[in-house]
Amino acid sequence: MAFNLLNKDINTLTCPALVVFSKASAQKDKLAKVTHNELAKHLTDAIEEKTITGKHQEAITFREYNVEGYRHLIVIGLGKENEITHESVRQSMASAFEAIKALNVKEAAVHFDGITASKKDAADFAQAVAEGLVLTSYVFDELKASAKNKKESDEITVHIVTKLATDKAIKAAFSEGLVLGNVVNFSRRLGDMPGNLMTPTILADSTVAAAKGIANLKVTVWDKARIKKERMGGLLGVAQGSDQEPRFIIMEYKGAAASKKPVCFVGKGLTFDCGGISIKPSSGMEEMKYDMCGGANVIGTMLAIAQLKLKVNAVGLVASTENLVNGSATKPGDVHTARNGKTFEINNTDAEGRLILADALSYATELAPQMICDAATLTGAMVVALGNTHTGYFTRNNALKNKVEKAAVESGEWVWHMPLTDFHVKDMKGTYADLSNMSYSKGAGSATAAAFLEQFVGEEIPWAHFDIAGTGWAVGNRLPYSPKKGASGVMIRTFVEIAKSYV
Ligand code: BES
Ligand code: ZN
Ligand code: ZN
Repeated sequence: MAFNLLNKDINTLTCPALVVFSKASAQKDKLAKVTHNELAKHLTDAIEEKTITGKHQEAITFREYNVEGYRHLIVIGLGKENEITHESVRQSMASAFEAIKALNVKEAAVHFDGITASKKDAADFAQAVAEGLVLTSYVFDELKASAKNKKESDEITVHIVTKLATDKAIKAAFSEGLVLGNVVNFSRRLGDMPGNLMTPTILADSTVAAAKGIANLKVTVWDKARIKKERMGGLLGVAQGSDQEPRFIIMEYKGAAASKKPVCFVGKGLTFDCGGISIKPSSGMEEMKYDMCGGANVIGTMLAIAQLKLKVNAVGLVASTENLVNGSATKPGDVHTARNGKTFEINNTDAEGRLILADALSYATELAPQMICDAATLTGAMVVALGNTHTGYFTRNNALKNKVEKAAVESGEWVWHMPLTDFHVKDMKGTYADLSNMSYSKGAGSATAAAFLEQFVGEEIPWAHFDIAGTGWAVGNRLPYSPKKGASGVMIRTFVEIAKSYV
């Protein structure tokens, strides 16, 4: 799949397929407008008969239309003019991509100038177009024998045709969109790989391989012996039950003066969570290969920050292990000591994410960063609370909350601020140790999990915790550029926006 900006006159170009856009009228009985003037004339009947309505994501394909040098014509609805946003364009591009794919052509042209008439927003729209196309192009079929027969000549090239193709800001925005789309797809693949093919060691090796050649990005991987030496009792305690070695992945990007404190991203990299001795029910357990999506998305965030050469220092930390049950597995009642010296008793071995994050957050705190954001598929309670629409996030820092909200508007990812109070902290007090890894109060399981994490973050450090249990995978019903079942890569684009706010 290749996507490129093309500085050509759409009226003199010849290509097997052309994508143009239509907008719905703000007034109820008024007709749609096709944003390409020459073609609009050809399409008068289709507009008048309301075959083309301009409805958001509408995709009308005219096969063998043979018009103005194009064999097939696709008309994509953008919705009403005043409802067009970066996110709606990203979603419209999903319809465009699917329509192009269905035509079985090798090449298609997109009439970009039809999306926005004003140059003002053109850069943002160029980025959204790139993201929408790349994100929709993701397929995870590498484990099927049939995928081996794919030929490079089967690739589709999509030209984004615009008069602004040589404009510096447009070019930069378009390539930023490609970078972001590609890192999200990279992280989705990590998530979609099954547990046997995405162990902590493979996750770490994949990170090292992906970072290779990216300027100013360094990856350090700690093995089990080092993790032990570093007193990461939470990560080790969970890893005890698995034959696979844990890994602690450290990604460091230097984009600013050495004196500048870093921004820090932390991810839960549980490559498979069966629950441990407090074992999960069998039904749906296979989905727990996705329990490393927080980690995968932090890895993607760091790759993007480095590739975009943001002028910040950034650190990404991913604690990775399996949560399984062998004879050495940790048991309910066991007590472990986290890196910061706090002890916790395990009252449910399935509440393991918070234990490995405890060490990662303690380590992050030692770096005295400007802020910490963590992403984790942490609690089933989050799925109950918000389903797969919003990522629930917790922070008691107002300045960081504002940054998160602003970043999420930019990225188009839906977030929802959740409550975190001293009452939730109280619920996590241990009987025999400092803390219990689960609350005995009813409900608010996501907030009490956040309260547990908070015990490992320095008081002075702005910190936000993103529980992506509901949004980490299977969001395709809402987001047309996300796979129906697979990993979503959620929060990468928001995290990159947050990092930008520290430049
Ligand atoms: N990985 C799960 C959380 C999860 C559940 C993510 C469903 C996505 C979908 C986590 O490790 C877990 O099992 N948490 C427990 C905590 C409880 C025992 C306090 C949960 O949510 O049930
Ligand atoms: Zn669990
Ligand atoms: Zn888990």
